[in-house]
Amino acid sequence: MTEDLINKKDIYFPSYLGTNDKLISLLNRATQTLCKWFSKADQNSPLTIDENFKCIMPDEDGSSVEHLFSEIESLLNSSFNPVHPGSLAHLDPPPLNFSILGDLIAAGLNNNLLAYELSPSITLLEESLCKWFAKKIGFNDSSGGIAASGGTLSNLNALIAARHNAGLGSDPNSVLLVSEDAHSSFIKCTRIMGLDERNLVKIKTDNDGRMDIQNLRKTLDKCSTENKKIFAVVATLGTTVRGAIDPIKDISEICKEKKIWLHIDGSIGGIFAITSISIKGLNNINQANSITINPQKIIGITKTSSLLLVSEMSTLENTFSTGLPYISTQENIVNRGEIGIQGSRPAEIIKLWLGLRFLGLKGIEDILKSSIKRKEFFIRNISKKNKFEIFSGPLHIVSFLPTGIAPKDTDSWTKNKVNELMKNNFMLSRPKYKGKYFLRVVMGNYNTNESHIENLLRLLDTL
Ligand SMILES: Cc1ncc(COP(=O)(O)O)c(C=O)c1O
Repeated sequence: MTEDLINKKDIYFPSYLGTNDKLISLLNRATQTLCKWFSKADQNSPLTIDENFKCIMPDEDGSSVEHLFSEIESLLNSSFNPVHPGSLAHLDPPPLNFSILGDLIAAGLNNNLLAYELSPSITLLEESLCKWFAKKIGFNDSSGGIAASGGTLSNLNALIAARHNAGLGSDPNSVLLVSEDAHSSFIKCTRIMGLDERNLVKIKTDNDGRMDIQNLRKTLDKCSTENKKIFAVVATLGTTVRGAIDPIKDISEICKEKKIWLHIDGSIGGIFAITSISIKGLNNINQANSITINPQKIIGITKTSSLLLVSEMSTLENTFSTGLPYISTQENIVNRGEIGIQGSRPAEIIKLWLGLRFLGLKGIEDILKSSIKRKEFFIRNISKKNKFEIFSGPLHIVSFLPTGIAPKDTDSWTKNKVNELMKNNFMLSRPKYKGKYFLRVVMGNYNTNESHIENLLRLLDTL
């Protein structure tokens, strides 16, 4: 489509008349641009930064289609590329094709999950899909959930509900217990909730990076002597640095005994619970009051896509419902802006639903199993020469360091390695953990095959 063939105003919005050929042509061109970028991935680095990339701001007349497409290309050419087989740094896998489609449909629908009258089908879809997940993990009929953008927000929804449920909404002595390896966003959640870091009590982890049960018991007793009121214990199902799983069965028994809300941060590992894949320590999760599942992190549902599932849906309604005076209500339908922090929300659920419908349980298992297989292949081979100390739990994340390296040397060692690996088109991360920097590889990239991993291992051996 060239500039002279279109009148700019014709493509401001979709037309309610005719076949929308101009929109179709724009979308085709955008698809081609994107697919060209995907298929070039292997020739470039996973992270290309084009120094000439300019952020051009809107001007008086608006830009031409040609200009915009060249700016889109330049934006793509200065982006992180999750499709690249060497993209192994973070929990950001390639996007599922059906999820890309879901994003397009959600954008075109432009419905709003604030209310049923603004999103009738999507409201029912989100409610049903959350319920489906909740039942799959073993919750009963009164369960359900809500989507939010990302693990942080799903966890925050849970913690606010837990505190409200405990009647501690404005109590400065209310505390939350997490393991020392829990995600850093719990610090942010605590601040948002008007608490400070003293209200975030950290439980020690054992040598495998799992919450230490003796330390949890000791801390619970200490909190009680200090008159601290615990509104939630958080168990992590897949820690960020090493993919460890806290002992959920033991923690859930303690929480039941003490009548404390158990939240599971399953941002990384929670999705495994809807499959029959056997993962050590992944049991009893239906004993929790709430769990975060964040399918954007491992099966490639496009960002953002996160669910909070709760065993009792009424806890979310009681916590967040205020009434929406400008919105109609329908009998037996909950306006979904009333059960979480967010008001207006896009129909992100479509890309999760389409992705899962397309994959089916077999497809989901295939993706998850493949990530574990890549991790096992990596560990089996890197361990052969005993050059590295390995930190990894049952999931697909591995952190490692040369055996015997002094903590003070880990900063420069990992910095150099990350740079050298990047020059060879492998992107790894360098998390700081227990006073040392580590190299971390996340094996969630379906495009990474064993020969890529062999190349990476060769580089690690020789660099
Ligand atoms: C275990 C865990 N919880 C929570 C989060 C936060 O998720 P998000 O970045 O989607 O908000 C992360 C991010 O990596 C994580 O690893």
